Order: sequence, then structure tokens, then C-alpha cells
Amino acid sequence: MIFTVAIDGPAASGKGTIGRAIAERFGFSHLDTGLLYRAVGAKGGDPVDAARGLGAADLAREDLRTAEAGQAASRVAVIPEVRAALFDFQRRRARAVGGAVLDGRDIGTVICPEAEVKLFVTASPEVRARRRWLELGGEAAPLSYDAMLAEVRDRDARDMGRADAPLKPAEDAITLDTSEMDIDSAVARAISIVEVALAKGGAG
Ligand code: CDP
Repeated sequence: MIFTVAIDGPAASGKGTIGRAIAERFGFSHLDTGLLYRAVGAKGGDPVDAARGLGAADLAREDLRTAEAGQAASRVAVIPEVRAALFDFQRRRARAVGGAVLDGRDIGTVICPEAEVKLFVTASPEVRARRRWLELGGEAAPLSYDAMLAEVRDRDARDMGRADAPLKPAEDAITLDTSEMDIDSAVARAISIVEVALAKGGAG
């Protein structure tokens, strides 16, 4: 069975958690595509060469989850040659037999426009900044809540404003606004959307 769940949305919207839960529930593979851009940004040197030569060791680095790695990722993500170098790998993963969940910024719009399910997961910048700040330790985090909010806004602007594959919902995406939804409700809603699509696929 080929069945792709494309999950796009801004930083800390909950798309990673939702993606992992869907993959686990349905036995699909899961690819966090942000990790590819984080690894390219963290590698240093020429980003296009880094993207073309990306290997397993680059993706296993322990410092890919930091706020700095997120900023570096969104800076290299504006470069069309970087995106082109990462395209085939993501595309193969999206259409691999057995079902796949990919989360990122352009999965439903560019990587897999024919995905059977497209979700756009979002939340207000304040809610997302608070979540990410708490994830990084709250009062013990290496940056303040205000700095985190500035970081989120900065990255949103860069991701939504770029010319190549900007962050935006696909025309046929279902939007899940998690600003006032806890993560369990968001996961339950996403799972029921996938169940409906799977049932339709089976019937037709
Ligand atoms: O986890 P978080 O949402 O903070 O970020 P991420 O998904 O790891 O993505 C880091 C950065 O990579 C984003 O800000 C985007 O600039 C870029 N990215 C992208 O351009 N396209 C994707 N499919 C995934 C990430």
C-alpha cells in the first residue's frame, strides 16, 4: 500500500508529535524533514555541498534540536539548490510501500502534492513560543520566553516569505489549530482524519 500523510506547519505547532503518533498508530514510517535542513545548517561550509553529501552521521548529531540549529536550518532552507538536493530522498520516503508520514513545511505543496492526507498544523506564535521554551527547560532554558518568541517570529517570517517552497497550507489541506487544543485532542483529531481517508481508499 502506498499512502502518504503530509503534515506541514510552523515551528512548535505540534506537527512532530502528531506525526509520530500517526506513524505508530498505523504502522507507517515517519520522517521529520526539518532534521535534514537542521543537519545541513549544522554541517557548516557550503550548504549546497552539505545537502548533496548528507549522510547518516550528519543526521545523528546531538545538537540538531537547539534554537540555533533551527535558525541555521531556516537560513539554508531558502536556497533552491539545497531544497533540490533533498527532494529525491524525501519523495522516495513519501511514496515507499507500507505508508509514510512526513512532517515539514512543503510536504503537501511540493514534496508530495498527491498525498492521501494533508494536514496543516498551526497555533499562535505566543503558544508555540511557550511550548518550545518549556521543552527547552522553562526558567532553566538557555533563552528567555521573549527571546524564544522573537526566534519563532523570525523563523515564521523567513519560512513564509521565501520564494522557493514557502510555508503555506496546500489548497486541499485540513487545518488543525492547536492554540487551544491539548496535544492528546490534536492527535485524536488527526488520527480520525487518517482513518476516514484509509476507509475511503479501501472502498474505492
Ligand atoms: O521543529 P521545528 O518546527 O522547530 O523546526 P523543523 O521542522 O526542524 O525545521 C527547521 C527549519 O527547516 C524550518 O524553520 C524551515 O526553515 C526548514 N524546513 C523546510 O524549509 N522545509 C521542510 N520540509 C522542513 C523544514
